[in-house]
Amino acid sequence: MNTKLLSEKDIAAAAAILRAGGLLGIPTETVYGLGADGLNSDAVRRIFLAKGRPQDNPLILHIPEAAWLERFCRNIPPAAYALAERFWPGPLTMVLRRRENVPNAVTCGLDTVGVRCPDHPVTLAILRAAGVPVAAPSGNRSGRPSPTRASHMLEDMAGRIDAIVDGGPCGVGVESTIVDLTAPIPRLLRPGGLPLERLEEVLGEIAVDKAVLSPLSPGEKPRAPGMKYRHYAPKAPVTVVAGDALRTARYIRKNRGEYTGVICFDEYAGQFPGCAVEAIGPAGDKAAQARRVFEALRAFDGTDVTAIFAQCPGDAGLGLAVANRLKKAAGFQIVDLGEGEP
Ligand code: TXA
Ligand code: MG
Repeated sequence: MNTKLLSEKDIAAAAAILRAGGLLGIPTETVYGLGADGLNSDAVRRIFLAKGRPQDNPLILHIPEAAWLERFCRNIPPAAYALAERFWPGPLTMVLRRRENVPNAVTCGLDTVGVRCPDHPVTLAILRAAGVPVAAPSGNRSGRPSPTRASHMLEDMAGRIDAIVDGGPCGVGVESTIVDLTAPIPRLLRPGGLPLERLEEVLGEIAVDKAVLSPLSPGEKPRAPGMKYRHYAPKAPVTVVAGDALRTARYIRKNRGEYTGVICFDEYAGQFPGCAVEAIGPAGDKAAQARRVFEALRAFDGTDVTAIFAQCPGDAGLGLAVANRLKKAAGFQIVDLGEGEP
């Protein structure tokens, strides 16, 4: 299969691919997605094949407006409308009870479905033109860092899907925040582009799923099935060095070897001579770090780097999502040096 690269103007061609049961790379504000008609089970199954995705990891349905919620979900709590009103289109996925018309291929047999309205004009236009909800996981091969540019998606998917729509680099850079609204207390299943603090403004108390903060013990099941897999991993092993940035920079300098990659804040980029350095943004700018983190993780592939150290932001705001992606890329291999002047 020859994977076509479409432009932002090719809305009709993109919608036709979806309606014909094809696979389409779509730009969103978070990361690129690998989309198919979410009501076509065969097309949805092909997503799993193209990604090499485990069969028990459900997909998110993308819709162009909150008015579509009723078509695919039932028992929708008022909180869902309040969140949609405030944060859609945007980087928020809500897990709700599903209707019968949502194929098992999307939900992997769960009686819930994740739904989101992405904030990207091109993909919103494609969703409207296709007239169907689009099931889309992130557009990487399973286990790889999520793609934040069309070129990343082409690296992973060339020859495996019909087309990719190039909508430019993603503005947010980490995937959507996932909140489960089917429990009595809303539960954060994955931190993402919408900070937890913003959700709390609307929902009050939110439980944080254990899989967000720590590795699971063997046999333990996270509520978002995808959280149990090693993820976002470059080819070389990653160690996250958490804590005060001066201290972490010093630790990395001391422990670096001959072919070491370093993911660091901009202020420290000059401090690792002999290393391959990826600066992900100023220490105080977590939005910049979110935009760059996956690209940085990808950058060492195809180089001779054999080990990667990463500085890591604290958990406030978007830091929770950036730190989660780095720690998952590291398989939760973390050196924590603590806060405060060294
Ligand atoms: O920003 C995003 O959410 C991107 C863009 C393309 O929209 N999509 C994305 O999809 O990150 P994916 O498949 O890479 O991650 C979806 C996560 C997985 O961890 C999956 O297990 C979880 O959402 N999930 C999906 N449906 C669920 C459900 N019904 N209950 C619990 N978790 C669910
Ligand atoms: Mg993914």
